[in-house]
Formats: sequence, structure tokens, C-alpha cells
Amino acid sequence: MRILVTAGPTREPIDPVRYITNRSSGRMGYALAGAAAHEGHHVILVSGPTSLDVPPGVDFIPVETAQEMYDTVRSLCDRTDIAILCAAVADYRPIAVADQKIKKTGDKLTLELEKTPDILGSMRSDFGYTGILVGFAAETQNIEQYAHDKLIRKQCDLIVANDVSRKDIGFDSSQNEVLLITADGAEPLPKDTKEHIAMEIISRASGIIPHQPA
Ligand code: CTP
Ligand code: CA
Repeated sequence: MRILVTAGPTREPIDPVRYITNRSSGRMGYALAGAAAHEGHHVILVSGPTSLDVPPGVDFIPVETAQEMYDTVRSLCDRTDIAILCAAVADYRPIAVADQKIKKTGDKLTLELEKTPDILGSMRSDFGYTGILVGFAAETQNIEQYAHDKLIRKQCDLIVANDVSRKDIGFDSSQNEVLLITADGAEPLPKDTKEHIAMEIISRASGIIPHQPA
């Protein structure tokens, strides 16, 4: 199958030397891309900046901003059977990007931000994507409820939810512990390496019957 994975953070420039970003190592997304390629799928990894090596056998498209990731995903959608959007996309970006470095002048500095496009939320409604759609939900509270809301709102087949307030899993850890949310309910996966969790997610995702447009 043709599998598209987004991973890593995005970077939203403020001026030539500064940006807004999210906390994300990219490890979960790279593990997903690697696991899918290992299973013999054709994998395209669209990633924001990380320090990771591209897994063997994976086609790689580096991007920086949410807008670049959005444009890239939109252009690849109709050639995708499974889309797994794992990136930690910045929700807001500076409205204006300064041409020159902003100098340290007053005691306070206010940045005006605007919303970035929601890539996962655009897949069905704007891109007309009808393949299998997997999203992630990074939450610090009410995990199951918030993740279920995202499943419905973004018309996903599966949401992989994790508790990013826990120190022992997630962000900079090699391990993760996730909750799989589908229309049938929630199922916890035991704490494991990101590689093992990735293999399980690829196996579950490839067993989903593709979405039928209403
Ligand atoms: N996502 C995306 N584009 C965005 C924001 C999020 O594609 N602009 C995707 C993420 O890759 C993830 C899912 O949406 O698969 C959920 O991301 P999350 O940050 O948990 O949800 P948001 O919808 O941004 O809501 P909030 O941050 O307020 O919880
Ligand atoms: Ca968000």
C-alpha cells in the first residue's frame, strides 16, 4: 500500500533568526515510516526538522512550516492509501514575518499570531481524501474524550492518543503508551518501544476498510 506519514514539529518564522515550534523529536513518526517500509509498503515521509536519520527504503520530503506541510500533503493525497498524520504541527504562526532581525528594544514584545491550516482536519472535507486516515492526539488531560472529539471532528478512522504530561513516555522518550480510539471505543496498548507501537499501528491501520464518501 502507499502510506503517507507526517512527522516532527513545524517551524513558524518570526524573523530571520527566530521561530515558533512544538516539542517533538519526530521519533514516533519515523518509527511508523520505518515499520511501514519494513512491511514492504511504499512510504513517503513528510517531516519537519528533526535530528533523526531517514529510515531505509522511505521516500523523504523535508518541510519547515505548517503551510508547506499542508501543501505537500494535499499534493500527495490522491496517491495515498493510508495517511498517518503524526506531526506536531504548530497551531499558530506569526501574522507578519520580519525581514530583518527584531532588535531588543522595549521591555515587552507582543507577537500577533494567526491559526495555521489544520492538515488532518482538511483531509476529508477539503482534499476529498477517501483512504484510511489515522491521526494522533497529544493531550495532557481528558485524553479519551478529547481524542474521541478529534476522531469525529477530523473524520478519522483511528486516533492514537497519548498523555504528553507523563515524563516516562512520549516526547524525548524511546517509549510510548497510547490509547487507540476508533468508532468502536478505546483500547489501551501496553507501554512499549516506539518501534513496537509503530508496528502495531501499521498492522491495525492496514486492516481498516477504506472510508466511503457520504
Ligand atoms: N494536526 C494537523 N494540522 C494542524 C494541527 C494538527 O494535521 N494544524 C494533526 C496532528 O498531526 C495530529 C492531530 O491533528 O494528528 C491532532 O493534533 P493536536 O495538536 O492533538 O490537535 P488540534 O486539533 O491541534 O487541537 P489542540 O492542539 O487544541 O488539542
Ligand atoms: Ca495542536
